[in-house]
Amino acid sequence: MSSVNYKNEIVKKLHEALEMEIGAIMQYQSNFLNVKLVSFQAEKVYDLFKDLAKDEVEDLQVFSEWIINFGGHVNGNFKVNVKPLEDANEMLKLGIQMELGGIAKYREILDLINQGVRENALSDVDHEGLYHTVVHIIMDEQEHARKMEQLLS
Ligand SMILES: [Fe+2]
Ligand SMILES: [Fe+2]
Repeated sequence: MSSVNYKNEIVKKLHEALEMEIGAIMQYQSNFLNVKLVSFQAEKVYDLFKDLAKDEVEDLQVFSEWIINFGGHVNGNFKVNVKPLEDANEMLKLGIQMELGGIAKYREILDLINQGVRENALSDVDHEGLYHTVVHIIMDEQEHARKMEQLLS
């Protein structure tokens, strides 16, 4: 028997994912509220962060549902750091970093699922469904980073 409780570990990671999403929601919201609309680029940045803040709320809901599916409860003390930026390029650079940080964290969830499956520790939960969901979210985050890169000037 494995000494690792994979379901608990995955629930822990999903809470870390929630923290990343909450951070992104707050930062992106701050971005579109504070961006100085001094250029066409800045207006596009406003639209982008306004849209992405909504996307990240959806991710937050999806991750929360999976915490429940894996037997956890949505709870915790989330630490959120919002940088008050006004410059569009600074927002984009930070946003790209945040997206890449999220992707790295979400890959850890995939690794844990793979390990748990190898050790036969996840047979009573929908690990395939979670895997599929996380792959999908990673692809969305890659797309977010790509959209930000396109607006960098
Ligand atoms: Fe997200
Ligand atoms: Fe994102």
